[in-house]
Amino acid sequence: MTRAIGMNRRAALLGIGAALSLPKAAMARAACTPKMSLGAHAASAGVTFGCSIGVDALDDPAYMALVQREARILTTDLAFKLPFINPDRGRFDFARADRLVAFAQVNEIPLRAHTLFWDLANPEWVTRLSPRDRAYEMDRIVDTILDRYRGRIHSWDVVNEPFWPGFGEPGGFRRGAWYDAMGEAYVMHAFKRAAAADPSARLVLNCDMSERDDDLGRSIRVSILRLVERMQDAGCKVDAVGLQGHLDPSLPFDPGAFTAFLAKLAERNVEIYITELDVLDTALPRDIRARDAAVARQYAIFLAAVLEVPSVTVVATWQLADGKSWYRSDWYRSVMPDLPPDWRARPLPFDDRLQGKPARDAMANAFCRAGRKRGE
Ligand code: XIL
Repeated sequence: MTRAIGMNRRAALLGIGAALSLPKAAMARAACTPKMSLGAHAASAGVTFGCSIGVDALDDPAYMALVQREARILTTDLAFKLPFINPDRGRFDFARADRLVAFAQVNEIPLRAHTLFWDLANPEWVTRLSPRDRAYEMDRIVDTILDRYRGRIHSWDVVNEPFWPGFGEPGGFRRGAWYDAMGEAYVMHAFKRAAAADPSARLVLNCDMSERDDDLGRSIRVSILRLVERMQDAGCKVDAVGLQGHLDPSLPFDPGAFTAFLAKLAERNVEIYITELDVLDTALPRDIRARDAAVARQYAIFLAAVLEVPSVTVVATWQLADGKSWYRSDWYRSVMPDLPPDWRARPLPFDDRLQGKPARDAMANAFCRAGRKRGE
């Protein structure tokens, strides 16, 4: 209940109207009909559904019509990443971020800013600094960016993908420019600085790979729980844990174990956001019908597990239609050289013609079922 109140207060602060401020029970009473948007289906379960978005989408009216119909929250894709917003030391380029923030404000849709610190993908200039200068720049980044967008951002992914146990660091941390300069303290330092820069900001720790039920995924779950506990013990505000949800059907997934992990996180009194949901389809059948069915099944299984836990308040896909997926990008091809040249990924709920796929129906059903259950 306190969670719903928190969301409503935030919605009021952002000037967001009825959709977000309806009490949970009233939302849950709305019956599902097949024509309802994913946003409406999710709302019936008390969940805010959305997707990530790039500035390029703003110039694509057909796509934007789909986004505005379906999504009730947006996440920035590249616009806030340091190589874009802070490309050189001391030089900030707010052009992309400004456009997305303005769009969100005009359309009264909450916007999640992704991401301040991501040790996997630092701009080159950061890696060249001394540890002391990195700490200085961390503060400047937080202060400059949070100050500019104060009160206009739903939530900040303060740190992204902090764990990679393969490095063998204590706590399972990923190595990179920020970790190497400050050790694991970089995470808390960033969160504390962000809380000071904008006390009303909702702060998120965004993590990858916790979904996979193998040694790697399981050890990341342990790392997440440990870090959240340490942050809270140190009085460091962390409002939500983001779990990306880049699902890969070739990896094991154990719904019961994942729900149990979410329940443990919920006990720490943090909200849980599913932040980057999609389904990698490279190991699935080539036949489109069979592939779409398998992708839909993956969404159904995952969402059924996730929606068991009421602390899951946001579910967002990484982009919304296949044509905009990062799995279709030149960048993805460059890191996956073995991908057949004619492979066209179909990881999202809408296809190239912006029509709903079986994955959309699977998501709608999962939300609807959860809504009925939560309303009982
Ligand atoms: C991806 C972007 O969508 C791509 O365009 C980019 O080239 C690589 O990064 N986890 C994250 C996101 O947290 O920031 C990533 O986004 C996808 C994986």
